[in-house]
Amino acid sequence: MLRDPATDVMEKAYARWAPIYDVLCGPVFLNGRRAAASAARDVGGLILEIGVGTGLSFDDYDASTEITGIDMSEPMIARARERLASGRYPHVKELAVMDAHNMRFPDATFDCVVGQFVITLVEDPERVLSECARVVKPGGQIILVNHLYSERGLAAAVERLLAQKARKLGLRPEFPFARLAAWAESHGGAELIERRKVKPFGVYTLVRFRRGERQRAAA
Ligand SMILES: C[S@@+](CC[C@H](N)C(=O)[O-])C[C@H]1O[C@@H](n2cnc3c(N)ncnc32)[C@H](O)[C@@H]1O
Repeated sequence: MLRDPATDVMEKAYARWAPIYDVLCGPVFLNGRRAAASAARDVGGLILEIGVGTGLSFDDYDASTEITGIDMSEPMIARARERLASGRYPHVKELAVMDAHNMRFPDATFDCVVGQFVITLVEDPERVLSECARVVKPGGQIILVNHLYSERGLAAAVERLLAQKARKLGLRPEFPFARLAAWAESHGGAELIERRKVKPFGVYTLVRFRRGERQRAAA
């Protein structure tokens, strides 16, 4: 298994992706994005999207939600701001350049934290998950959607083969679900409540955690 991706490598990759992201990745991630946003709408209220990118998900939320989006990439957030300037998304309240490893939000701010195609790309996924658990309210949810490592068979072999080159492109095909489950186990303040393949192709996995009513002091 390769090391987790360095933040500066991802920053460079997404500076290159920003101008063409919507055309190339918009349709590819569509089902995953919609599934995660639909699960988040079921929670409703104040929603934080980490790694919000160019804001492709804005269309998937409605007035039952209030969206805050953060991304560490200036060029990606600049595209999201252009999208917001259309005036079509009054439910999007704030966009900020911010690293999900160190968020500037107080504890227990949001009803739900959503990460669409981002947790596999961060330098320290466990720390980002713990930050998500910190900023979500007791009883709130963390909802992730991603392609996760196949672990066995031909698909897993191909994903391992592609892993090195994929990093430079800002992608990561070999991140196992077991790591997410292990984080919840060791954190102690978040319970895994759902893991399911997203229809119709089952390429992406949706994972939901619920934050416990009482959180441990440190994770
Ligand atoms: C594959 S894109 C997904 C964008 C968007 N969520 C979507 O589904 O279209 C991954 C995004 O995560 C952002 N990202 C990567 N590491 C991050 C970090 N540590 N903190 C915040 N954003 C990060 C990247 O800049 C990029 O915009």
